Amino acid sequence: MIKINNLNKAYGKINVLQDINLHIKESEFVSFIGPSGCGKSTLINIIAGLDKATSGKVLVDEKEINGTHTDRIMVFQNAALFPWLDVYGNVAFGLKNICKDPNEIRDKVEEVLRKVHLSKFKHHYPHQLSGGMKQRVSIARSIVMDPKILLMDEPFSALDEQTRMLLHNELQEIWMETGKTILFVTHNIREAVKLSDRVIIMGIRPGCIVDDIAIDMAHPRQSTDSNLFYKEELIFRKLKVEIEKVAKEELGNEYNFEKNHLSWEHNNTMGGGI
Ligand SMILES: Nc1ncnc2c1ncn2[C@@H]1O[C@H](COP(=O)(O)OP(=O)(O)OP(=O)(O)O)[C@@H](O)[C@H]1O
Ligand SMILES: [Mg+2]
Repeated sequence: MIKINNLNKAYGKINVLQDINLHIKESEFVSFIGPSGCGKSTLINIIAGLDKATSGKVLVDEKEINGTHTDRIMVFQNAALFPWLDVYGNVAFGLKNICKDPNEIRDKVEEVLRKVHLSKFKHHYPHQLSGGMKQRVSIARSIVMDPKILLMDEPFSALDEQTRMLLHNELQEIWMETGKTILFVTHNIREAVKLSDRVIIMGIRPGCIVDDIAIDMAHPRQSTDSNLFYKEELIFRKLKVEIEKVAKEELGNEYNFEKNHLSWEHNNTMGGGI
């Protein structure tokens, strides 16, 4: 469904993404993980049509993309809701541009509010909502547009651990119910492994794909599933090589991970600090 062919991106003389080739199937949940600055946001922005590749192509259903389109919608880290609109108004806002029937708008908005468990809060304003609720509104206003592809750039990274776990389960349910294709950028290994069919590991300078790891386990998954731990560790080991490269560049060759204890433990804070 999504094909990225020989994609490169440079800002001035700096190559940010180099020779990215990737095929993503319909309804796949694909996560992108990699050191800060490796070009995850740049890549997802290009797929969204918010940024342009320097060369190469992004095809959706065999058609080259040209700018933004309602078939690809982005959910950002910060919900950025309209403060003067209530939950209902925020979710209905974009829909009003593509749908003129008020009954249809109401039905669609009510349905997605049920999916994200916000029906009781539809008349609340953003300042009356918790961070998790705001992010639920953000997801609701994206899926109400019924895009083929949902693009998510660290959507849960500003949330506390418990809220994040609830939202993992909700996103997993929404994905299983709607069959959307989801591209999900994260720094969090556990989150990537729990949610994804594939985890793409990216390397840096220039940003490139260094590995593509299948997580072939049935959904829905629970964070406590011990089968996930093996994959988490595998991804951590691969990611560590990339992080080490960055640290050596920034801190000098004498920097040593064995000495500096960058290790993976199953009960740690989900790799959130990576
Ligand atoms: N508009 C821009 N102009 C110049 N350089 C940019 C621009 N946007 C991004 N970059 C550079 O491109 C590289 C990739 O940035 P990007 O934001 O895509 O990384 P990232 O992997 O999303 O990082 P993080 O994990 O910190 O969010 C960085 O070196 C960044 O400084
Ligand atoms: Mg980013």
